[in-house]
Amino acid sequence: MSDSSVRIAGWGKYLPQRVVDNHELERMVDTSDDWIRARSGIVERRIAAPEETTCSMAVRAARPALDMAGVEAGELDLIIVATGTPDHPGFPATGSLVQEALGATRAGAFDVGAGCGAFGYGLVIGAQFILTGAQRNVLVVGSDAMSRVIDWRDRTTCVLFGDAAGAVVLRATDRPGGLLSFVLGSDGCGAPKLYVPAGGSKQPASHESVEARAHFLKMDGRDVFRFATRVIPGSILEALDRAGLTTADLDLVIPHQANIRIIEHARKKLELPPERVFTNVDKYGNTSSASIPVALCEALEQGRIVEGDIVAMCAFGAGLCWASAIWKWN
Ligand code: ACO
Repeated sequence: MSDSSVRIAGWGKYLPQRVVDNHELERMVDTSDDWIRARSGIVERRIAAPEETTCSMAVRAARPALDMAGVEAGELDLIIVATGTPDHPGFPATGSLVQEALGATRAGAFDVGAGCGAFGYGLVIGAQFILTGAQRNVLVVGSDAMSRVIDWRDRTTCVLFGDAAGAVVLRATDRPGGLLSFVLGSDGCGAPKLYVPAGGSKQPASHESVEARAHFLKMDGRDVFRFATRVIPGSILEALDRAGLTTADLDLVIPHQANIRIIEHARKKLELPPERVFTNVDKYGNTSSASIPVALCEALEQGRIVEGDIVAMCAFGAGLCWASAIWKWN
């Protein structure tokens, strides 16, 4: 039989050791554990050590994923790193740094930037290379060091994010299932709702930009909240429809872990019971591109996904953009 499907054959995650709980943030900005829990569901997050980078975290997530898939780094055809916090602005791609660190000598490598939606995009892109028959082994990593772009004086954003990496190895397979459908979307009108003003070609780094703290993330939380609560159910329903399925077929939804209130809102709109929506935002906060692969890993570790299950993943974020995909676990 010829290989005609794609399969997530291995997965891995990396969480930095340092745990920062809400009480530690109370000592840094005018906030409270009660406010952060009530408004976001976040209890603690991980923060990378000074020597850790997006690349180093990506490598630590990728190694166990490769081991599980039984794929040597030298057998990889492609490495896609989803990130909004690359080791270097612009170039080189963090993907190339990961390729070198893993010793993936045959692999092409590049980054996908789509805010917190990047892993959703990267996973769909990686799957296409396999579904066309062009490649057999693709590594997709979501890694973000959000602590490096957060303004630790801004209580409206610094309490929400954390650092992490998650990885999957995609392989060609003759087992039916895999990626059934996807929806990719973008609404660039929302670009100013969530962005880093300086450090790009529009506003290069300068003494003034540093003084203005313009290299840190700025967000209109209320508008992003409204966007997210609309786009999660909307894009999942659209992807289900493209797969010829309904919410009744869903065994597990893995939404981007930004805020428990956003997730709960989407869950109710989709009329799903709590056990069919995965959450771990309480432990890690919003880890951007790492959020979905880390959640996927934990769902698998907890036995919440078994062969034949229908799993929806929904990523969304800066852009504004979104990426939903329906997988049949094979
Ligand atoms: N501690 C205490 N008070 C705070 C804090 C804080 N950390 N932050 C804000 N407040 C205050 C505000 O100043 C405001 O006070 P005011 O009423 O006197 O003006 C009050 O709390 C309420 O603020 P809101 O912004 O209305 O609070 P809301 O309930 O909307 O929650 C939040 C804010 C958590 C940011 C929410 O809007 C949210 O989660 N938005 C979506 C964010 C998101 O998902 N971002 C990631 C996208 S992915 C990516 O690409 C990075």
